[in-house]
Amino acid sequence: MSVHEGLRDRATTERGAPRSAAGPLAAVREALAPVLSQGPLDVLDVGGGTGHYAVPLAAAGHRVTVVDASPDALAMLERRAAEAGVSVRGVQGDAADVAALVGPDAADLVLCHSVLEYLDDVAAVVAALVAVTRPGGTVSVLVPGALAAVVHRAAAGQFAEALKALSAAEGGSGQGRAPSRRFTRAALLGLADAAGLAEPRIHGVRVFTDLVAAPDTDPRAAEALRALDEAAAVHPVLADLAAQLHLTAVRPG
Ligand SMILES: C[S@@+](CC[C@H](N)C(=O)[O-])C[C@H]1O[C@@H](n2cnc3c(N)ncnc32)[C@H](O)[C@@H]1O
Repeated sequence: MSVHEGLRDRATTERGAPRSAAGPLAAVREALAPVLSQGPLDVLDVGGGTGHYAVPLAAAGHRVTVVDASPDALAMLERRAAEAGVSVRGVQGDAADVAALVGPDAADLVLCHSVLEYLDDVAAVVAALVAVTRPGGTVSVLVPGALAAVVHRAAAGQFAEALKALSAAEGGSGQGRAPSRRFTRAALLGLADAAGLAEPRIHGVRVFTDLVAAPDTDPRAAEALRALDEAAAVHPVLADLAAQLHLTAVRPG
């Protein structure tokens, strides 16, 4: 099974029914496709939890390690991996200590998805992600978008809250406090730059999907929404409004 097939399987079977390809797994898969197609990789998933990304990647032939603070999540990861017939190494520990846990230059691809919003010292963890990435390897970070909070609140008629969210979004890097920190494109690019990462790219994940009622019963509408979100993901303005921002960047060789 190719990695693309592995992640597609995950996206289509997670709820026992086909899931919109505009979902986070599919969108992240598209952004990582050039890296994942380079062959079996050493992948490190920091804060990988129960294995949403790790298990499909292992099923696609990659050698995957998950570092997570939660023993319960790691136990669930082990069960999921066993059910999928794959092996994923689980290591309990804090993201900030990842270099000590797995050693420097440990992986070709380092994921840190939906984790930074829970952390106090985001910059230190991004630096740790870079330390465990081999030179020439890729770091993949997924975070909540700050401007999505503005749009979603305004669309819900919560105008005062939307204005507060807008002020916060303009306030600089990593708005808010853990566990509800949100990020703008500028904040994410600033973190990547400060950590010495090169070739940063940002995709918007779910620009419109979370704003509209899911057209589950109309396959043509669902496909049109998927295509719209895919185009918006790389649009220079619309991408910044996405529910999640996905950064990929390279550790210089
Ligand atoms: C929302 S889940 C995301 C799981 C996975 N990355 C995904 O996208 O499906 C957040 C995960 O981060 C882990 N986590 C939170 N703080 C952490 C820390 N300081 N160090 C390591 N893991 C942490 C949690 O235990 C949890 O499994």
